[in-house]
Amino acid sequence: MKKNFVWFDGKFIPLEAARVPLLNHSLHYGSAAFEGIRCYDTPDGPAIFRLKTHVDRLFHSAEVLGMKIPYSRETVIEATKGLIKKNGLPECYIRPIIFYGDKMGLSPVGAPINFAIAVWPWGKYLGHDKVSAHIAKFIRLHHRSGVMSAKISGYYFNSILASLDATKNKADEALLLDDRGCIAEGPGENIFFVRGKTLFTPKKGSILPGITRDSIIKIAKDLDYKVVEKDIRPSELAKYDEAFFTGTAAEVTTIGKINRAVFSKKSKISAELSKTYLDAVHGKIKKYQPWLDYIK
Ligand SMILES: Cc1ncc(COP(=O)(O)O)c(C=O)c1O
Repeated sequence: MKKNFVWFDGKFIPLEAARVPLLNHSLHYGSAAFEGIRCYDTPDGPAIFRLKTHVDRLFHSAEVLGMKIPYSRETVIEATKGLIKKNGLPECYIRPIIFYGDKMGLSPVGAPINFAIAVWPWGKYLGHDKVSAHIAKFIRLHHRSGVMSAKISGYYFNSILASLDATKNKADEALLLDDRGCIAEGPGENIFFVRGKTLFTPKKGSILPGITRDSIIKIAKDLDYKVVEKDIRPSELAKYDEAFFTGTAAEVTTIGKINRAVFSKKSKISAELSKTYLDAVHGKIKKYQPWLDYIK
């Protein structure tokens, strides 16, 4: 039988034994902080990409929700590595989640805090190599409706509505604008555009500042590309040669078109960045080794 353990409130237990009450605060109101992290196979065994940065963001998100986390960052890091080892996975997706538990009523004050980590093999997130995107009829959450640097479950109703809208419009993925009509991000990805030797990406404010976005900015600069963070409007799309999404799940995914704007050039720079990113996460580039946390 295939092993499938999770780490739940401090212990490794089988997935089927991890139960939560029906009157769970986070189930009803979205009061959970979570992360999406990937572990990759490398010549020196499995390694987790930018684990510490993800754990820092997880703690930040939980703090935004007013949670006092009952574990240290070191405990979470060791639990994550131990879980992957216990499940015997060479590569996997990692989902830590901290959630308010058994309590009804909107204020979470006094609710128990639960902490789970699950891992599972997860291949390509966006089906194709060159996806189509549809500008959603819903705007990205207003930056003053929450703390945009936090990854909080409740925010994702916005991503879900945008994704349903994209499916209805026969596109692979949604693209959300901000309240001013500027391009913000995908439902679970940041976005970049390319013109000549320059990359353009929306400024922080109405986006989740992705860890992959940060990695790609560093990699692009190392490859001598210029990176500009600026407001980008859908009316300007025709001036860009290429576009791509970035995210832990999506990695670097080339965009073929956004609504009727087609990026017909060869996507050479997206392909180069994608390859360099994949080489980095698979431990093949020495200078990016500090981003890897090996499971010994
Ligand atoms: C809304 C949103 N934007 C962007 C991203 C990309 O972030 P990261 O690169 O940290 O995975 C994600 C994924 O976590 C997301 O959910």
